[in-house]
Amino acid sequence: MEAHKRPTALAHLLLGQVIRPGDLVIDATAGNGHDTLFLATAVGEGGRVLAFDVQAAAIDATRGRLEAAGLAGRVTLIEGSHAGIADHAAAGTVAAVMFNLGYLPGHDHGRITEAGETIAALDASARVLRRGGLLSVVCYPGHLGGGHEAESVGEWFFKRAAEGWTVTRHGAIGCRRPPPFLLLGAAA
Ligand SMILES: C[S@@+](CC[C@H](N)C(=O)[O-])C[C@H]1O[C@@H](n2cnc3c(N)ncnc32)[C@H](O)[C@@H]1O
Repeated sequence: MEAHKRPTALAHLLLGQVIRPGDLVIDATAGNGHDTLFLATAVGEGGRVLAFDVQAAAIDATRGRLEAAGLAGRVTLIEGSHAGIADHAAAGTVAAVMFNLGYLPGHDHGRITEAGETIAALDASARVLRRGGLLSVVCYPGHLGGGHEAESVGEWFFKRAAEGWTVTRHGAIGCRRPPPFLLLGAAA
């Protein structure tokens, strides 16, 4: 799918311009492993990906996708909350952190990301990102509970912009339902 039609594809395009071989990067919401696979490819042989998810089904799906691509060796899968990101990476060492909020497609729609934990994880991400490192968050305001979370995430990025981060937002306009959008921040 073309990047201008899907925020998730746009995130790949933009992060792909910044991630370098050998980098340490984080997938905060591994899900079915599409983003983790993108990151594992982008960091090359000497790079490292940390991928978090609270659901065992997501960790299994991500492992399967990585193994099929022969890239499982570059990724540490962590079955646990992304609120613990700073326990796994040192401050200022990470080139990019990706979030794709909401539920695991094809699985338990009841286990969605939640505003409070997402904000805690964004705070942790800001600590581990290096200067110029990218933080991408795809929000789904049209999903149940997603509106409040998207608003909280938007406010969080506004505060970072006031602190000197470069922050952009991309999403469709003129839709009947609130469309998903990408928030992207470059750490100051
Ligand atoms: C939209 S899916 C992610 C899709 C994924 N990035 C992909 O490429 O397939 C959102 C995921 O966030 C996970 N999640 C929910 N709360 C979480 C938390 N506190 N920490 C880590 N993952 C969480 C869900 O289990 C779900 O798998």
